[in-house]
Amino acid sequence: MLSIQLAQKKFWDAPVEGYVFFLKENLESTTTLAPLSLVEKDFYPHLKDMLKKHTFEGKKGQAFALSAMRNNTLVQFIFVGVGTLKDDNSTNIETLRRAMATAVHTLKKLSIKNAIFALADETPFDISQTELLKHIAIAALMSSYEFATFKTEKKKDAWACQLQVAITENVDKGVYQTALDHATIIGTAINHARLMADTPANIMTPTAIAAEAQKVAEQYTLKHTIFGRDKALELGMGGFCAVDAGSDQDGKFIVLEYKAQNGKAPTIVLCGKGVAFDTGGINIKPSSHISGMKFDMCGAASVIALMAIVAQLKPDVHVIGLAPCVENMPSGKASRPDDIITCMNGKTVEIENTDAEGRLILADALCYAEKFYKPDIIIDIATLTGAVLYGLGHFYTGVMTKDRKLAEQLTALGKLTGDRAWELPLDDDFKEAIKSDVADIRNSGSPAYYAGTITAGCFLQNFVDKARWAHLDIAGTAHEVTGINYVGKGATGAS
Ligand code: BES
Ligand code: MG
Ligand code: ZN
Repeated sequence: MLSIQLAQKKFWDAPVEGYVFFLKENLESTTTLAPLSLVEKDFYPHLKDMLKKHTFEGKKGQAFALSAMRNNTLVQFIFVGVGTLKDDNSTNIETLRRAMATAVHTLKKLSIKNAIFALADETPFDISQTELLKHIAIAALMSSYEFATFKTEKKKDAWACQLQVAITENVDKGVYQTALDHATIIGTAINHARLMADTPANIMTPTAIAAEAQKVAEQYTLKHTIFGRDKALELGMGGFCAVDAGSDQDGKFIVLEYKAQNGKAPTIVLCGKGVAFDTGGINIKPSSHISGMKFDMCGAASVIALMAIVAQLKPDVHVIGLAPCVENMPSGKASRPDDIITCMNGKTVEIENTDAEGRLILADALCYAEKFYKPDIIIDIATLTGAVLYGLGHFYTGVMTKDRKLAEQLTALGKLTGDRAWELPLDDDFKEAIKSDVADIRNSGSPAYYAGTITAGCFLQNFVDKARWAHLDIAGTAHEVTGINYVGKGATGAS
């Protein structure tokens, strides 16, 4: 557990166990608030030589700690490299996020219970100090997350640390506090999404996901509606019910609603795939591909967590969160390949492959959004295709939309926040791939067209009517991402 507070007292005056210095490649501090001279003057006069001797050169990813006795307590000076900070704005921010993660991991390794750091000075950034604080604080909170629910020993003595951010005396503390409060709300929600997704499917069943959503709704007073298979059948949700059919768990369709003060505000619907576990169904996955399928509800987890953020930040738009949650199982009641189903908007679908189940439940969720909310914008988020991993790997979410403005906004925001996204085309040519001889469309693209991620996007497009719509395929980014230190193992909370 990590908590972050502002400290308007001087960096060096804070009575803490850990002092964090972010250093550039010339071994200069990134901020005048925490110059190295503080350590040099009272403790290590030859500090820079020492650091160099220990091959700490201030490069990205480097870290080094020194101990000293100060006022009768053992304190640690933690030096973290950030390189030159001469890259573009978003790269610099990402560098500082990762440096923060290195700092948090070092604090944890040294069991430090309270520490202080200062933000980099404004010069290399096109954003304000308060925006920078938001990014860094979110990264710090994400770095402190660990899925330890089932680690008996770790759970007993969990690490707790109070981290202070030093700010100068001549700034308005209020605006920094607001930024930090927002970061805490966002970072906590991201970690909640990760906890839901990391929790395995024997526990995080559709019913349990619904209970998490209900908790969020009650805590932040959101209107919530949760219904199961019977109501879904009544509504004509043939896609949702076809996937749910094979499981002994009752599927849950979750609706969370945030109403803006201004009744005339636009409406945006977020729609997250919630497959609690994806065996593939009758087209069962081979052993090599089945483990990790507890993460197939990462989209739903992100939407539920996003609704907690929305409820607290109260933006001037109506936001609806939809999360169709089911378990995709093979059984005597399961849907078969060749089955034909009818979705909520009346379109018929040939189930060519029961493992292409995410698009079936999302189809009905998109119809539900259009029918009951007539939204201006719908964004769906789903671990939808393995194919996206081949195209974009683990670092980029696939964005598909015909709306130029949405595409630009989503990719630009992704670049700034570290949730990187890259657009894939949705040209009508790909529609041929999901033509069916016996129904309106089929649920898996013809192999002749390749591009499984795009053909899945084309499938979903059939269930959007009037709204501006974008589809995010997070199969690559939602879990097991190596190389980004603030996300670590397991679920990333990608959105
Ligand atoms: N849950 C998977 C997608 C997935 C694969 C997520 C790997 C994370 C890692 C999805 O339901 C699925 O099985 N998709 C199939 C679609 C195919 C049958 C058309 C796929 O990608 O192979
Ligand atoms: Mg069932
Ligand atoms: Zn599947």
